[in-house]
Formats: sequence, structure tokens, C-alpha cells
Amino acid sequence: MSRPLDVVVLISGSGTNLQCLIDGQQRGELPIRIRAVISNRADAGGLERARAAGIPTEVLPHRDYPDREHYDADLVRVVDRHEPGLVVLAGFMRILTPGFVRHYQGRLINIHPSLLPAYRGLHTHERAIADGAAAHGCSVHFVIPELDAGPVIVQARVPVHADDTPETLKARVQEQEHRIYPLAVRLIAEGRVRLDDDGVHVDGEPAAKPPAIDAATDVAAL
Ligand code: GRF
Repeated sequence: MSRPLDVVVLISGSGTNLQCLIDGQQRGELPIRIRAVISNRADAGGLERARAAGIPTEVLPHRDYPDREHYDADLVRVVDRHEPGLVVLAGFMRILTPGFVRHYQGRLINIHPSLLPAYRGLHTHERAIADGAAAHGCSVHFVIPELDAGPVIVQARVPVHADDTPETLKARVQEQEHRIYPLAVRLIAEGRVRLDDDGVHVDGEPAAKPPAIDAATDVAAL
């Protein structure tokens, strides 16, 4: 078996997506080794999840820095100490500088709670409900300097119900996040997904557009 892919996960919050990656690694379903979990917030719940799994954690509080450039320069130093082949943003609530993004281009991914390119930015569940959208979902994408605009790797779609609140819709979307983030990480770790100059390739072929995985589809088949 080839060597597991070294991964660094960046978080700001509760870390339920991080937990899925930890579980996948521990169950032997993901050929990765999470080398470190780094947070900009000392109170991020995900730090406790990492500690419980014996994964090294670091906190780099953004308030200690005068601006994004200085923060991101230090963040690169902290992340690079762990020599990651992949950097996973899992609810890291910071806009990253172009310099940071370029440093990790092709090995930096994010999960966003919408069917990109719809609803970039914040409050996606509220906006989908306000628009009367029939469907909503989540996307895993490679990160480029433009916010939430990078090439999509996988998406999962869920219905929006008439009586949905942002909370109920968020819960339905998060169930799918917890399926597609480990899937995307596995496909990258297995070398099956990569970012080329002309976009995402899966098994050597340009990825389908839109790369939607329906909520009903068994993602294990991939
Ligand atoms: C997720 O909903 C994700 O879509 C967004 O941040 C949230 C992180 O949640 N980018 P968690 O910390 O993984 O529970």
C-alpha cells in the first residue's frame, strides 16, 4: 500500500466535518494521516475532537495580527511544518489572502453549504429559503483566490421543504456534507482526483459538469 496522504485541517467551529475525516481515518476508510488541526479560535469545539483522537492541535488567534497578510504568512509557516499534501478547510471562517491560496493551489479544498455557483458567501440556507429554491445542497471545491469560486469536485443536492427553517435545512445539508467531504478527500488521497490547468480531473478525465451527486445516490460506489 502507498503511503497515506498527510493532511492538515483548518477549523473555526464545532468540527463535525473534521470528525467525519477522523472517523474515516480511524476506520481505515481514508488513506490519510491528519497531521494537525489548526484553529483561529481557541474555543473551537473541533479542537477537542482532535485532542480526543490524539491529533496535534494549534491555535493561531487572528486577533493577534494587524492584518490578513501577516496572519496568513504565519499560518503558512504553521501549516507547512506538517508538510501536508492536502490542506482541508472545514468551517475555517476566514477569507484567505491570494498569497495563501496560491501557495497551496491544487492541494487546498473547502466545503461550502450550497450548490455552487449558487449562493457564494454566508447565510446560504436563509437565502435559499427566501428565494423559494426547490433544491439546495453542498459542494466540495478546490480553493482559488476568488471566494467560493474554485472548481467543484463533488456536490450533493437536497430538496427544500415548504416548512423548512434555516436550521432544518442546514441539518439536511450537513448530513450530505458528512458524506461528500470524506469522499472528496478519499478520491484525492487515492490520486483519482486532481486539479489541472483546465479544471478538475477524475480518473484522468475532465470532471462532469455539474459534478452532482444526488442525495439519493450511494456515494460509496465512487
Ligand atoms: C459547514 O456547514 C460547512 O459547510 C461550512 O462550515 C460549516 C462547518 O461545520 N463551510 P462543522 O464545524 O464541520 O460542523
